[in-house]
Amino acid sequence: MESLTIIQPDDWHLHLRDGEALKAVLPHTVRQFARAIAMPNLQPPVRNLADATAYRDRILAALPHSATFEPLMTLYLTDNTSPDDIVAASESGFVKAVKYYPAGATTNSDSGVTDISKCDVVFKAMESVDLPLLLHGEVTDRHVDIFDRERAFIENYLIDLRSKFPKLRIVLEHVTTSDSVEFVLSSDNTAATITPQHLLLNRTSIFQGGLRPHFYCLPILKRETHREALLEAATSGNPKFFLGTDSAPHARNRKESFCGCAGCYSALHAMELYAEAFESVNALDKLEAFASFHGPDFYKLPRNTGTITLTKQSWTIPRELPFPDSPLVPLRAGEDIEWKVTEGRV
Ligand code: DOR
Ligand code: ZN
Repeated sequence: MESLTIIQPDDWHLHLRDGEALKAVLPHTVRQFARAIAMPNLQPPVRNLADATAYRDRILAALPHSATFEPLMTLYLTDNTSPDDIVAASESGFVKAVKYYPAGATTNSDSGVTDISKCDVVFKAMESVDLPLLLHGEVTDRHVDIFDRERAFIENYLIDLRSKFPKLRIVLEHVTTSDSVEFVLSSDNTAATITPQHLLLNRTSIFQGGLRPHFYCLPILKRETHREALLEAATSGNPKFFLGTDSAPHARNRKESFCGCAGCYSALHAMELYAEAFESVNALDKLEAFASFHGPDFYKLPRNTGTITLTKQSWTIPRELPFPDSPLVPLRAGEDIEWKVTEGRV
């Protein structure tokens, strides 16, 4: 296949940051995606409708001239989130989900939930107004091996949560293991997003020829058998799996440092990376549904009507991109990639 035209995709998991960083990264997403679920892990986080309204206004103000792009807002669940916060957010029409981070799990998660069992009234409210719950599904107990934290979250919390709130729509974000794939497949009202790095790389990649800080994200890359399970799920055509890049920009000096930040930057070339992953198993015909249909269907939103075209054309991923203070290094910087978005919103 030399070119592929598909309905405009959306990114169902994206970190846009704020201020100058937001201005630096937003044009990349807008080139490829019509909408994106904007993660709320700012500092301070997006905790309620007022915060979400203000953040949405800042995103819209940062849009390149004449760009049409719809930010889909999320609230950050804290120990203090109330059912009233949920109802108000849901009535706004533009808050589309609530994000759960276990306290301390990842970047800017200090305000996250310290005890998920205290959130039952909030989950009940979300279930009744039908507002989806997005999970960073990892335990934070430092005695649990980092490669086992996703599976432990399923066993220790998710099975129980799923059965307590059967109608609550849940997205298990950035799944990294076959355990998560199996859980999603066997649970009603449950879906998952999958990132390009978890489809293309495994945990050995982090140490390929030396330590690769730009392959460090959370949940961390897992072993090859898990990558294969994710690729099979993504290319299966099952509507429970859809695109969410988890593109998470951090300046180079914050990644290549004594204690580097977690996050891979993929907004620049997300669709090209997914195309490469799908092509590797001869499943390019399944890319459109994964990128453009399953997400809006799960979120009960209309599918997009425009199109984008990917063309088989080799180009080199830049070594770095402009970013405040220190440059931004995209995923697989300096390497060639065989697909290019050539038409659409480019
Ligand atoms: O790698 C990650 N980066 N995982 C997350 O959960 C958060 C994200 C970020 O915000 O940088
Ligand atoms: Zn994320």
